Amino acid sequence: MIQLKNITKVYGKDSGQEVTALKDVDLIIEKGDFVAIVGASGSGKSTMMNILGMLDRPTKGEYYLENREVNSYKDDELAKVRNKTIGFVFQKFHLLPKTSAMENVELPLIYSDRKNIKGLALEALKKVKLEDRASHTPNELSGGQQQRVAIARALVNEPEIILADEPTGNLDSKSTLEVMSIFQELNKSGKTIILITHEQDIAEQAGRVIKIQDGKIAEDYRNENPRSASEELKLVDVNE
Ligand SMILES: Nc1ncnc2c1ncn2[C@@H]1O[C@H](COP(=O)(O)OP(=O)(O)OP(=O)(O)O)[C@@H](O)[C@H]1O
Ligand SMILES: [Mg+2]
Repeated sequence: MIQLKNITKVYGKDSGQEVTALKDVDLIIEKGDFVAIVGASGSGKSTMMNILGMLDRPTKGEYYLENREVNSYKDDELAKVRNKTIGFVFQKFHLLPKTSAMENVELPLIYSDRKNIKGLALEALKKVKLEDRASHTPNELSGGQQQRVAIARALVNEPEIILADEPTGNLDSKSTLEVMSIFQELNKSGKTIILITHEQDIAEQAGRVIKIQDGKIAEDYRNENPRSASEELKLVDVNE
């Protein structure tokens, strides 16, 4: 699905204060992988995310998306490929305030030529079990519910890949399990998921863990039996 070859990212070339955030990174992400990217603050996780998400370009190296080299694309082509292929989820949700859950989810479709935008948005809200909150604005929703709306928005274009940067960073433990169980379900249905996290607990729920240290991949291993968020959620519900 994705292949990085010798990717290097250097910030601050112009100011003379150069920081090498990624150093010669080689990485293959297979279709259907569920990858957790972990590492200390400043190790290069967000830099990696921005490059994987085509939000930023590497200083050096090649990026292949389904065998096509994307660095040669012009910005507008890149934006098109990005919108079609990748759904983004952020730590701080980034929902429009004073705008209903439904309308937030519709946003990515507004400039598409898709028909039945309302139907597609409602379908995406169903996938995160929030169809009964469609008319609520973000301030009427809990943090976990807001993040689920953000996931619905990421899903509505039916991207192959979901990229999430600390999606549970602002959530309590129950909402974290709810969000993780949605990601696990999406992964089972075939989506490729790449998620950045500080927490080992979260990483254990992914099928593959990549540890970044000083801009390099220090570890890359697979979890044969990832922890099931939905099973853990049942235990929380029983104890409540
Ligand atoms: N725009 C920028 N200009 C200059 N240096 C930058 C820029 N963005 C990041 N850096 C530097 O690159 C390195 C990697 O940063 P990055 O944001 O990728 O880390 P991170 O692993 O996401 O950290 P955190 O866990 O704190 O979010 C850091 O040393 C950081 O200071
Ligand atoms: Mg970061």
